[in-house]
Amino acid sequence: MGIILAIESSCDDTSAAIIKDGVICSNIVYTQKIHEEFGGVVPELASRSHEKNIVVTVEKAIAESGITIKDIQAVAFTRGPGLIGSLLVGVCFAKSFALAHNIPLIEVNHMQAHVLSPFIENREIEFPLICMVVSGGHTQLVYMRDYLDMEIIGSTIDDAAGEAFDKAAKMLGLDYPGGPLVDKWALDGNPLTYTFAKPRMDNFDFSFSGLKTSILYFLQKQIQQNPNFVKENLADLCASIQHGIVEILIDKLKLSIKKYKVKSVCLAGGVSANSELRKRFIESVSSMQAKAYVPAFQYCTDNAGMIAIAAYFKYQRGLFSTQSVEPMVKNYAI
Ligand code: KG4
Ligand code: ZN
Repeated sequence: MGIILAIESSCDDTSAAIIKDGVICSNIVYTQKIHEEFGGVVPELASRSHEKNIVVTVEKAIAESGITIKDIQAVAFTRGPGLIGSLLVGVCFAKSFALAHNIPLIEVNHMQAHVLSPFIENREIEFPLICMVVSGGHTQLVYMRDYLDMEIIGSTIDDAAGEAFDKAAKMLGLDYPGGPLVDKWALDGNPLTYTFAKPRMDNFDFSFSGLKTSILYFLQKQIQQNPNFVKENLADLCASIQHGIVEILIDKLKLSIKKYKVKSVCLAGGVSANSELRKRFIESVSSMQAKAYVPAFQYCTDNAGMIAIAAYFKYQRGLFSTQSVEPMVKNYAI
């Protein structure tokens, strides 16, 4: 039921994928390294890099999939949310491609795509379900009745989970993005060495700013007494910080499973690569008689494969966009 080319360019990854009859045939991701030296994504550099790389990324995706350009029956793209310059590159490319090949255009919401990413490898997931999306830009709990019928039941009111990892890592002097480095150092540390602030909210929303401030004050105090404190205790610090972030996520997840009584629970977004989160997620969901699904790493971080699966569900329902479609930086309802 159709061959679709999908493009993702919302932030700092240029990605293209081909999906054929609901099966991913290729998923090429070009991760822009240029931002590392700035300690965060520089929007102007990101859009220029997308422009430079989009054609070759699409060519690679087509070549690897074994199809030819003439076989493509629709082109999908990330409409938002994201950085305006980055989104524009993908939107313009997709619109031109659709026009040149006379095929339909499919707009995809980046967050909706993260939520649907577990379906790439697990078509048997049962509804209703809850998906926890944890990335560098978003932290959300989403309740799903069907593929395209979803409702956000909780979001972060300040930083995203990945942002909390990255900011804490920065305080420890680690490189950007710090999440994977905290994960690595934490392997040799004791997660119960230090305790940091936990938010007290009884809804499904998340907050990481209290934890971040308590880490900052704690480090400032310790470094005053011992300038080598971070260096000497890096593994325990990373393990304790990681434990603090994961506890906040798991507490809310359990609360939501209790209320919504779902059959399946999914994890998505870049932070789902975190080893403690994956382990605690599977343990917690299983203990609550639901089935846990965690996508493979290549579908957790930003990638066009997840745009392709979302596009596949929209294609089946004939949900197409017109040539007047424009990027939607925020407030793009899922
Ligand atoms: O989904 P993603 O690739 O991009 C966004 O849409 O934001 O997520 C990137 C985030 C970064 O904050 C990065 O530090 C975090 O995911 N991350 C991790 C790990 N791997 C990636 N955080 C903790 N532990 C990891 N292993
Ligand atoms: Zn993302």
